[in-house]
Amino acid sequence: MNSKEIRQTFLDFFKSKGHVIVPSAPMVIKNDPTLMFTNAGMNQFKDLFLGNAPIKHPRVADTQKCLRVSGKHNDLEEVGVDTYHHTMFEMLGNWSFGDYFKKEAIEWAWELLTEVYKIDKSRLYVTVFEGSTEDKLSFDQEAYDHWKKYIAEDRIIKGNKKDNFWEMGDTGPCGPCTEIHCDIRTDEERKKIDGKTLVNKGDPQVIEIWNNVFMQYNRDWISPSVMNEMIAWEKTYKGSNFEKDRSKKHSESTKLSYLPAHHVDTGMGFERLCVVIQGKQSNYDTDVFQPLIQTIAKASGKKYGENEKINIAMRVIADHVRAISFSIADGQIPSNTGAGYVIRRILRRAVRYGYQTLEFKEPFIWKLSDVLVEQMGDAFPELKKQRELIEKVIREEETSFFKTLSDGLDKIGNIIAYYINNGNDRVLPGFNVFELYDTFGFPIDLTQLIARENGFTVDMDGFNKHMEDQKNRSRGATGAIGATGGTGSWSSNISTEKEEEISNVIRTTFVGYDQMECEVKILKTRKVQVKAKEQYQLVLDKTPFYAESGGQVGDTGYLDNGTEKISIVDTKKENGVIVHFADKLPKDLSKPFKAIVNETRRTLTEDNHSATHLLHAALRKVLGSHVEQKGSLVNDEYLR
Ligand code: SER
Repeated sequence: MNSKEIRQTFLDFFKSKGHVIVPSAPMVIKNDPTLMFTNAGMNQFKDLFLGNAPIKHPRVADTQKCLRVSGKHNDLEEVGVDTYHHTMFEMLGNWSFGDYFKKEAIEWAWELLTEVYKIDKSRLYVTVFEGSTEDKLSFDQEAYDHWKKYIAEDRIIKGNKKDNFWEMGDTGPCGPCTEIHCDIRTDEERKKIDGKTLVNKGDPQVIEIWNNVFMQYNRDWISPSVMNEMIAWEKTYKGSNFEKDRSKKHSESTKLSYLPAHHVDTGMGFERLCVVIQGKQSNYDTDVFQPLIQTIAKASGKKYGENEKINIAMRVIADHVRAISFSIADGQIPSNTGAGYVIRRILRRAVRYGYQTLEFKEPFIWKLSDVLVEQMGDAFPELKKQRELIEKVIREEETSFFKTLSDGLDKIGNIIAYYINNGNDRVLPGFNVFELYDTFGFPIDLTQLIARENGFTVDMDGFNKHMEDQKNRSRGATGAIGATGGTGSWSSNISTEKEEEISNVIRTTFVGYDQMECEVKILKTRKVQVKAKEQYQLVLDKTPFYAESGGQVGDTGYLDNGTEKISIVDTKKENGVIVHFADKLPKDLSKPFKAIVNETRRTLTEDNHSATHLLHAALRKVLGSHVEQKGSLVNDEYLR
């Protein structure tokens, strides 16, 4: 079977068992603060497990695009070095929401693998949960008893919490799991070493292919203070038993409670399944990756399979172009923060391997997106739809990084050569690292990686010190501009007792959504030096003045108490307090004032603000959900 047939067979099989086939959820998550990327097929069903959303179909199956690059489930630096880890991968899954449980899940898994895909039974092993004293959970006898019907007992292995209790993250739905492992070694090798002894031991040829999780519990922090304690503990604690101690601490800080119903969550690694069915030794030898690898080989004039360094570089690129393309198709453009930064790092890692090992001297990854779209566009139509965007974004990003990379790599190469020749204890000093970062725009994690590859460590303390010094220098620079006066301290217009209260809890009440004028009291004032001019800042108890925010300029207007009129030239927010800028201070601060907004200016500005949202919605509709609002400016004359 080719990979397309393998995927389709999975979906057809579960359809025949009464499952509704649903599309993959996006890989980039925009509405869950606990996750940046979908890391398992079950993410989109989290609320169904927790009983927070109604169950439409009790049986569902799909193929889910997932990304694992850091944290609990993966390490970016390992991808491509071995033959079976990936950043982006597909997870085939069948789900029961309060419907069937262990019996059917096990029976169907076995039927699909051995009768439909016809995988040799003598290559399969299964694991079941042995229980955990930390969490007061017992051995999963039920799963064991079901397995006994299909597989010899000496092929059923008891596994610990790390391998056989699946959790989405530190908190959330979880439960014991049973995994199916496959030994893909040659018969000769299998005779020499019993496959059973290699299960869960990191052997690239005895691999987990399918995980069946029996969702029974929800894990939650016991209280926010315990959670904080846990976070603090993790920050400071470093020791050889970190993993073990962490697990203990985690169990102590959380509690497991039963979910309202029992569910099944399964995840089968599609790329690994293809390896097994196609009789290959590496995921990259299947038809999921070969078209990409062969295109890279042709473009670079190098062969895959002859030299391990070159193999790794090709694997890295073939893996990473998938992660990047799928993210862009989901609307995530490379950037400097959050999910965008993760994507940027992945792309840059691929570019670096291509540049250094495959000797590409100009952008090349963007050319692979065509091959990918041809190959996966039927199963994931978003790739076809966003084809042009994917190509364009990758090309632009690659082009700009190429420049940084070539300058920075020359520089770091010279530095390392210098220290090797001039005897140093293999530590890259902080000032060099800082120069690479500051002058050459060379990412710090890349410096660390290259240093490591050359047997060097990086003096991070030294680097941080230089960063700190630089921050101080720029603070000093700002100070110098304001040296003609700077920002004075607040003087209060109210009694000391009240002053105390205000500095702690003051939050100006904003009434300007409904009112353009109202009666106000002045609470605080201070003098500031703005460029060469003196200005005053005023804090009022309440205000109709809109403070600059989301690109909309602050209101102007005036304060009037019948005898005095003070112009307000701008309004800004500072820590929740609305600050009004005036050219002079009223003579008498004690009397109430009427605060009056320049209504014509505000209304025109509001119109432009609404227009900004309409324009933005139209851009997203026409160009795609990757369009983001950045650097917006909205005033009474125009919008940007
Ligand atoms: N949630 C489990 C996993 O990710 C099974 O789908 O392995």
